[in-house]
Amino acid sequence: MDQFFIDGGKPLKGGVKISGSKNAALPILIATLLTDEVCVIENVPVLLRDIRTTFQLLESLGKKVISQNSRVTVKPQASLKTHAPYDLVKQMRASVLVAGPLLARFGVVRVPIPGGCSIGLRPIDIHLNGFKALGARELVDQGDIILSSRELSPGRVRLKFPSVGATENLMMAAAALNGETIIENAAREPEIEDLGRFLISLGAKVKGLGHSRISVLGKPVLHGARYSVIADRLEAGTFMIAAAATQGHVELLGADPTHLKDPIAKLRACGVKIKTGLRKITVISNGKALKPISIKTGPYPEFPTDLQALWMTLMCLSAGKSEVEETIFENRFLHAAELLRMGASISVHGNHARIFGVKKLIGAPIMASDIRGGAALLVAALAAEGHSVLQRVYHIDRGYEKIEDKLSALGALIRRANDSRKISPSS
Ligand code: UD1
Repeated sequence: MDQFFIDGGKPLKGGVKISGSKNAALPILIATLLTDEVCVIENVPVLLRDIRTTFQLLESLGKKVISQNSRVTVKPQASLKTHAPYDLVKQMRASVLVAGPLLARFGVVRVPIPGGCSIGLRPIDIHLNGFKALGARELVDQGDIILSSRELSPGRVRLKFPSVGATENLMMAAAALNGETIIENAAREPEIEDLGRFLISLGAKVKGLGHSRISVLGKPVLHGARYSVIADRLEAGTFMIAAAATQGHVELLGADPTHLKDPIAKLRACGVKIKTGLRKITVISNGKALKPISIKTGPYPEFPTDLQALWMTLMCLSAGKSEVEETIFENRFLHAAELLRMGASISVHGNHARIFGVKKLIGAPIMASDIRGGAALLVAALAAEGHSVLQRVYHIDRGYEKIEDKLSALGALIRRANDSRKISPSS
């Protein structure tokens, strides 16, 4: 298992190119199951583990995937299968998104029920209720959900919560149905808009993107398309917070500031200078102590849950008391205990955390337990005084392409090593 050796305390300085969005690329790649023609998807973060898992998933279902740099070509290879393998679903929960396109096209799909993960139980009831509202029947067998319908019909679905995954699954199903489907209380994340634009490029008509009422006018035969994925707002948010935490000056190239309005406003409230342009964000620290600013996560456009852990790291370095409230996932504070090992002062009560800023964090051996919590610990180690060893880097590799190379180019002292090798911490 890889680990990072980090010598902290160096301000990040320079420019960094933001990769394509993982959370947009995943459903877009899966949506290629809606057509038998060739699709070419550009700006895909192909080095990410979750993207590689998606390639395997598509190939296991009968597609051929060719990736070259950040361009991915998905072609038909065999007739499509309707059973997603458990081995892949357990590695990546987003695999459940194959249900929508396959059910709508073939009238049946078998998908292993994804288990919970370190941040919460993560049920899929909103996805399933949506399919049932369109006429599907559900059966559980051997840990799999079997969804079937003699004829899935377009209709109206109201989600009890604006789930990102359920909105995507239903949009993809709707794109293959002959008629209009309305999704109410839909998620409004930029990744949903990106999927919607891809479905339009396949030949569906989609309206209401970015709003909570999405209409999809589908058709049974969709064509191939060429499409480019948006930049990753969560990677951009991570670098913004890393720049602020290390008192640096970083230019994020390719990042779309309109996707990060709330985090940018919160950083400005802390006293960080942020300049925005078309596909560019510049973060400039003013050298003064950060003001403590509380946040509460919520569905887009509220503060993203995926930047909550990173915000907690930043607030550990602020001059005062702040609060973080997590409303999306029930167990997303695992990073707090690791931050305590670095000298942070945090108390957690249910889904509330109270953070008392400290003068400095101190390097320590620490362990990632999920993608964003791992990134938060990485940023803490970059800002801390002294040496840290960050273990279980594979969590971070699910969501960040070559993060150590990008950070090194900004002046960070970070090195990846395999922990089976004996390496002296200072080497
Ligand atoms: C997506 C993102 C993830 C982000 C999350 C919230 C991807 C690959 N992942 O995850 O990075 O943190 O959105 O912005 O895009 N829920 C149910 N029943 C359901 C579905 C969801 O109770 O059927 C609950 C979940 O357990 C969670 C909340 O709703 O507590 C939000 O989940 P959802 O919006 O579906 O997130 P994901 O699509 O899994």
